[in-house]
Amino acid sequence: MGGSFDVIVLGAGSGGYACAFRAAQLAFTVALVEQDKVGGTCLHRGCIPTKAMLHAAEVADSVRNGSQFGVHAAIDKIDLAGVVSYADGVVGRIYKGLSGLVSSYGIRVIQGAGRLTQDHGRPAVIVGDQTYQATHLVLATGSHPRSLPGLQIDGTKIITSEQALRLDRLPGSAIVLGGGVIGVEFASAWRSFGVNVTIVEALPRLVSGEDASISAALERAFRRRQINLVVGAAMSTCQSTESGVRMELADGQVLEAELMLVAVGRGPQTSDLGCQEAGIELDDGFVRVNERLETSVPRVYAVGDLVRGLQLAHRGFTHGIFVAEEIAQQAGVLEQAPTPIVDADVPRVTYCDPEIASIGLSEDEARTRFGDAATFTYDLTGNGKSQILKTRGFVKLVRQPDGPVVGVHMIGARVSELVGEAQLITNWDAFPSDVAGLIHAHPTQSEALGEAHLALAGKPLHSHG
Ligand code: NAI
Repeated sequence: MGGSFDVIVLGAGSGGYACAFRAAQLAFTVALVEQDKVGGTCLHRGCIPTKAMLHAAEVADSVRNGSQFGVHAAIDKIDLAGVVSYADGVVGRIYKGLSGLVSSYGIRVIQGAGRLTQDHGRPAVIVGDQTYQATHLVLATGSHPRSLPGLQIDGTKIITSEQALRLDRLPGSAIVLGGGVIGVEFASAWRSFGVNVTIVEALPRLVSGEDASISAALERAFRRRQINLVVGAAMSTCQSTESGVRMELADGQVLEAELMLVAVGRGPQTSDLGCQEAGIELDDGFVRVNERLETSVPRVYAVGDLVRGLQLAHRGFTHGIFVAEEIAQQAGVLEQAPTPIVDADVPRVTYCDPEIASIGLSEDEARTRFGDAATFTYDLTGNGKSQILKTRGFVKLVRQPDGPVVGVHMIGARVSELVGEAQLITNWDAFPSDVAGLIHAHPTQSEALGEAHLALAGKPLHSHG
């Protein structure tokens, strides 16, 4: 029993289900094709379970460091099965809520792997032996962990982040290959659980997508936490041995550990979709789209990690909503066309300890774009709440010369919660003086944002301008 729908969405992760929900709200008939579970990587194998694990890691650190606050306690044991079961509980509750929303919107979920085809000149999807026709098709199949040529992921000693979330015991030691977002988050959590961790990063610094000052601060913090860092190092060979893994670097250095996490990026999931047969152009596996997220085939769109750029769940959600509204505008259901999504306007958070949160341009990017940039860095030592938390870090502002704030870069405990305000500042092209006039509650870490803007506006309060 096939069927015909206004909108068929392939993939029910953050981008796909957001698109399906918005399209259903706009009164389209919608089908959501999913081979696994609604919620995708973010809910089942990504953001949610990793952040639950990182919260458990924070609890471990609070216990370990309790005496600094006059609360003496000791860790009895880290029960990884207990951590996984706590994360599963969080995922399960969100999954239940999400499934309820899918039914309440009247979205038809088609279980199985979809493949693109054409039916009488209309885009269509084959699932099993059924063909489903669509007026509009949205590709939202997401991404998968990448590996390196010659590196065999065996799922036990050489693992991906998805497998790392399902470990049944903690290793004594681990190599994390890749010092990007996934690498530093796992390294951070495992260190908090007592694992001896070494990060191997090919580029000269960790989290190379961030402002250089953030990388330097993270590296200092990780060294203080006794996380071993090998940066600017290319892996030459890596084999599993009886007791774990043995890695040789290009400079001859040898590293050994019980297991290795491969975190060298995620690749778009387009290989089995039938894009070529359907005439959809790819670019190194990513779906080629215009600024309105339409592919080379009219009425076929792509959202989320399939589209080259930031691979973030909230970018996927936003893409999904954008495409549903774009379709609605073209169908005459909405009057106004939605505004295209620009990666520079997407907030970024890395949930290691210390946390990193940023938006907009780094200092180097701003200098390249504007020829110059004004910056101010406010040290969290001057912030009361940060002192209470005993965290170190800073808020760095990057401003176009005599223009608005174009970048906010933060590191320190809990700074993820400040990214909402940072995003309003850069997205609304605020000048330092606009933010300097706003009142920040005391004592909160948001005062650090306020103070940084006061200083950049030329009237520092608790800092030297
Ligand atoms: P990534 O692109 O952030 O980092 C991969 C790192 O591996 C890079 O620093 C790269 O230089 C390094 N690398 C590549 N080949 C290497 C080699 N041969 N030897 C040593 N290092 C090598 O990718 P990652 O961390 O795997 O994450 C994938 C995606 O998932 C990212 O786009 C990330 O933004 C997203 N993600 C976001 C999270 C968040 O928002 N908190 C959490 C987890 C993932």
